[in-house]
Amino acid sequence: MIEDEAPVATPIGDHAAPHSLEILPVPGLPEFTEGQDLAAAISAGAPWLRDGDVVVVTSKVVSKVEGRVVDVPADPEGREAARRALVLAEAQRVVASFRSTLITQNRLGIVQAASGVDNSNIALDKIALLPADPDGSAARLRAALRERSGVTVGVVITDTMGRAWRVGQTDAAIGAAGLGVLHHYQGGVDSYGNALAVTQVAVADEIAAAADLVKGKLGAMPVAVVRGLAVRDDGSVAADLIRPVEQDLFRLGADEAVAQGRREAVLLRRSIREFDSRPVDPTVLRRAIGIALTAPAPHHTRPVRFVWLRDEARRTRLLTAMREKWLRDLLTDGRDEEWARRRTRRGDLLFRAPELVLPFMVPDGAHSYPDERRSAAEHTMFTVAGGAAVQGLLVALAAEDVGSCWVSSTLFCPDLVREELELPADWHPLGAVAVGHPVDGPQSPREPRDPASGLVEL
Ligand SMILES: Cc1cc2nc3c(=O)[nH]c(=O)nc-3n(C[C@H](O)[C@H](O)[C@H](O)COP(=O)(O)O)c2cc1C
Repeated sequence: MIEDEAPVATPIGDHAAPHSLEILPVPGLPEFTEGQDLAAAISAGAPWLRDGDVVVVTSKVVSKVEGRVVDVPADPEGREAARRALVLAEAQRVVASFRSTLITQNRLGIVQAASGVDNSNIALDKIALLPADPDGSAARLRAALRERSGVTVGVVITDTMGRAWRVGQTDAAIGAAGLGVLHHYQGGVDSYGNALAVTQVAVADEIAAAADLVKGKLGAMPVAVVRGLAVRDDGSVAADLIRPVEQDLFRLGADEAVAQGRREAVLLRRSIREFDSRPVDPTVLRRAIGIALTAPAPHHTRPVRFVWLRDEARRTRLLTAMREKWLRDLLTDGRDEEWARRRTRRGDLLFRAPELVLPFMVPDGAHSYPDERRSAAEHTMFTVAGGAAVQGLLVALAAEDVGSCWVSSTLFCPDLVREELELPADWHPLGAVAVGHPVDGPQSPREPRDPASGLVEL
């Protein structure tokens, strides 16, 4: 930008009415029933309709004329049970639940209480569902009004809904035709020269809420007309007001998000063998080890130790010695040298990993037995407890988007490991854990396996 180039007010028009705004009730409408001609009733009730008006219709009457009304038992308990079943049937997914309130994303994609299923302003043995396609209903009503009254109007179909973090409900647009539902201010500058913070105004929702001030909830006034806006048909519809889920920072209620995170934590872990260059946050690694150390263990013992090998030279020395030992083992097996060298390259991931953690089983508090059978069982018991702790570490790391791979290596050369790291003779290595940020970025949870593949129910 050139130094003296001040921001200038952009030619973006304002969404406010150019002069004044009127909100006119349409009185004398009948009690609507299935199949009734809504356009005919509105034309008769509002012979004064003119071009540029916006006809605002409560979705309940659209549901009634379109037959989106369900018979339910009239007794309060039966009606409530039917209502709950309908709420779930109309829901794509449950966003949050609080006592008897269910916030869902309904079939239309709208997030609101009870999927928009409503038992107000309707007979006690009926419940209204939202119109199946409110944008389509709005377009049809607009075309019918043009045909009948010769006027070109905008149509907004409304429903009443709560707003997150606000007490009380307002009306919002769930169907729209013949008007721009959003007024864009992107790139706009106000008369002071400030870049506009609000970049798009939900005009259709503002119209819906304004009309509600005339329609009310008790007075059987389901239609109002908003007059005075500069209406421009840009082809948009009310569905354009639905925030795409990938842009939704609050796509689940807090409790639901926590529950999903818990369910998926174990499924986030997988063996990661390629890491990017980002360092692992030491606080995260220490926290994960603290979590791992809570694993179950026999007779209230603490049989697991994690050695975080931070000294680069020591790590290279240990891994090199382990590789040479592995190579010697393979050559002793009679393998040819080239094959053996290729094989040992599998251990390279431990050299490459940003961090290396070595788990050990320490039989502190193990019972001693005079016989081999029970001594071996005790050893196994402590070893499996070590395995539980290692899995805990891997899962805790995965839950913080840190990848890991548990590698057997040290299990096959325990004496060498103890010697290199100067550890006591009863520290039993349980492999090595490579730790780092996955080169492919954060992992998503995988599907659980079919329980039948590993479950025997007797
Ligand atoms: C005790 C143990 C030893 C393992 N040793 C190695 C190993 O030496 N090298 C390796 O690449 N992976 C090793 N793994 C990881 C397995 O190969 C891995 O868990 C398996 O392929 C399944 O993949 P997943 O962990 O992504 O579910 C080991 C896993 C365990 C539990």
